[in-house]
Amino acid sequence: MTTEPDSLVRELSSPSVWPDSAVNAPGGDVSLAGVSLAELAERHGTPVYVLDETEVRSRARAWRRALPDAEVVYAAKAFVCRAVVDWMAEEGLGLDVCSAGELELAATRGFPPERVVLHGNAKSPRDLRTALRIGVGRIVIDSDCEIARIASQVPKGAAQKVLVRVLPGIEAGAHRKIRTGAEGQKFGLSIAGGDAEDAVVRVLGQPGLALAGLHCHLGSQITSTEPYGEAVRRVVAFLARIRDRHGVTLPEVDLGGGFAAAYLPGDAAPSPEAYGRRITEELSAACADFAYPLPRLMVEPGRSIMAPAGVALYRVLSVKRTGAQVFVAVDGGMSDNPRPALYGARYTVRMVGRTTAAPMRATTVVGRHCEAGDILAEDVELPEDVRPGDVLAVPASGAYQVSMASGYNMTGRPPVVAVSGGRSRLLLRRETFEDQKARDVGV
Ligand code: LLP
Repeated sequence: MTTEPDSLVRELSSPSVWPDSAVNAPGGDVSLAGVSLAELAERHGTPVYVLDETEVRSRARAWRRALPDAEVVYAAKAFVCRAVVDWMAEEGLGLDVCSAGELELAATRGFPPERVVLHGNAKSPRDLRTALRIGVGRIVIDSDCEIARIASQVPKGAAQKVLVRVLPGIEAGAHRKIRTGAEGQKFGLSIAGGDAEDAVVRVLGQPGLALAGLHCHLGSQITSTEPYGEAVRRVVAFLARIRDRHGVTLPEVDLGGGFAAAYLPGDAAPSPEAYGRRITEELSAACADFAYPLPRLMVEPGRSIMAPAGVALYRVLSVKRTGAQVFVAVDGGMSDNPRPALYGARYTVRMVGRTTAAPMRATTVVGRHCEAGDILAEDVELPEDVRPGDVLAVPASGAYQVSMASGYNMTGRPPVVAVSGGRSRLLLRRETFEDQKARDVGV
């Protein structure tokens, strides 16, 4: 398909929130990795999520380049399927999983188990059984009561590597619901309150557990590098305290994820290089201050790898003018993207596949679900003549949308199509009524 120069997209839409390969194409279309979005909407139906494989891989690589001595562990919760597991394996990343399901998926592709980190504030018996059977590299301890439970399941003579998740007492992240570094929420063991130290002592007393280090995850969509600097200082101070009081020098620090993605043009989203530089500089400085040997670093980016690579496509079902407001309702909504309703997340929207000379006007794009809060994007600029049948594209849709999609109103979860080098392939098919009916076994 013929594509036009990049500069055109830059004029018409918001370059910073589109994958690098996005270019304007004739007829008001946008092509991604050389594949027409309008054609994909036609072929797969809508809503459909399109994932630019090259964008995912190059972002994964950017993290590895930014922290060449660190282990970069992709947070599968952002979005995972078998192809993504393969991409991460090929790019040399590890995998952060938080359920037996994610673990089993990784195992079906032969993902190296030693590169898997298991998380969870409440790991189920099945999670732990699966992790120990598969032989994950690390289990992150998030509560006192799982210490003995994990230890008791480790075969005699063996030792499972674990990290203790500490709470540094830092407030960071885009929304209260995704801030996990501050006191007073369910994750981690408080450094200030002494719980982290108690847990470290208990883990050290378990022969079935090998304490490799500390973990800390501050929150998500953190748009500044500063909180990471502060976290590093607090974690290293705590490592030094453990060494001084308990005589052990722990060799690993996992700083979690939380690195921001741009959803709106101009959104702050520091590069992996910027986060990486800040983290390594602070780590060196803090270790020098405490005469602590430089620990091996781990990071767990999810959103910053996946969000910018995804574009959601919807078809307009209705246009309604209510007073001064224009509601454009599409064939998806909070069942495939609960983020606006949950966190007040904002997106840009662009029409694709039709040209128009109509002026732009402020529009609210809403979903088709039975709630007034089912709003996908408020106050976005769309052509005045937008009408049923038009295709709308929502960039920055690769993370925490399909992975959080629900069965609400039985509309069926959307398919995911990967594009690369001018070709597309279906990764996840649409959930059908047959799928839904098959689970309904009660009559
Ligand atoms: N590591 C741990 C332990 C985590 O809990 C998370 C995300 C990550 C890494 C990856 O964070 P990221 O780099 O993707 O920010 N559903 C919310 C985000 C929840 C994040 C949960 N934990 C949203 O849509 O904004």
